[in-house]
Amino acid sequence: MKTIIINSADKAAGEILKGGIVALPTETVYGLAADALNPDAVLKIYETKKRPDFNPLIVHVIGIEEFEKYAVSIPSAVYKIAEKYSPGPVTYVLSKRNVIPDIVTAGIDTVALRIPSHPLFREVLKKCGKPIAAPSANMFGRISPTTAEDVLKELKGRIEYILDGGRCPIGIESTVISFEGGRIFVLRHGFVTKEEIEAVSGKEVTEIKESESRISSPGMLKSHYAPLTPLYFTDNIEYFKNKESNVGIVDLAAYGSLREAALNLFADLRNADEKGYDYIVTKNVENKGLGRAVNDRLKKASSGNVIIENGKIAFLKK
Ligand code: TXA
Ligand code: MG
Repeated sequence: MKTIIINSADKAAGEILKGGIVALPTETVYGLAADALNPDAVLKIYETKKRPDFNPLIVHVIGIEEFEKYAVSIPSAVYKIAEKYSPGPVTYVLSKRNVIPDIVTAGIDTVALRIPSHPLFREVLKKCGKPIAAPSANMFGRISPTTAEDVLKELKGRIEYILDGGRCPIGIESTVISFEGGRIFVLRHGFVTKEEIEAVSGKEVTEIKESESRISSPGMLKSHYAPLTPLYFTDNIEYFKNKESNVGIVDLAAYGSLREAALNLFADLRNADEKGYDYIVTKNVENKGLGRAVNDRLKKASSGNVIIENGKIAFLKK
């Protein structure tokens, strides 16, 4: 199959309406899109990405007024949060209606809804008049793509069309939140921070730890977002910076802001991965606000820690 990069939202929408899958730009990362109401089309997403069938997909809609079509018992906090962050990078996990095929939600009774802000994605949504299911457009477990060229590297020969929207302006995925018993939970850290959700909702937001999770969620798997080159955390990045050896450095803390660190995270991992290094070293950014989303991705992408003992390098695998 030949994969081509296209510029026409019309063409992308036409393919989706025909039951095809197309990579589309969003403000966060590129998504691999299909008509969410067409189970055969959605199946193609799982097959193309080699995504395990227990991992539910996010359904993208044009506006908050669509939520009632696909979800029931929507808590008022959703509307409060959406007032500030819609359209944008927040994903709401809600009780699903039967119109959403089981394959979209991997058989669970909730559906993740998101209102993307990227103008091209919105144009496709409008032209299709359908909700669009889309996970990140990478092979399962790999680095999320933030340009059309990245998608090509991931999915060349596996899909026909990639709609080019340039570089994703945010570069890190949406924040996934769920609601239960009047409480709000973060299932995946993302661009909108826990603190921001707390401020707008007036509620405390609880982080779900992997060990406590009742949901099979790829964002919660231990290994994800991973380069092929092993990635290790170090406390001593300067040591590696000064060392003349075949080691890649991904130092996101060196960026001026967490915003920039998040923007460059996947691009830097991908660049380092392409260089043929023996391994890549990295370190965490400040673990607050948006830093949590960055550190979460780094942790899942990593193979463990590297330490220097008596001048010797030792790897501690995770
Ligand atoms: O920014 C984003 O969210 C991007 C763009 C393309 O929209 N999408 C994305 O999708 O990151 P994906 O499939 O790579 O990650 C979706 C996350 C996963 O952690 C998945 O398990 C979780 O959302 N998720 C989806 N439906 C869920 C549900 N019903 N309950 C709990 N978690 C769910
Ligand atoms: Mg993903």
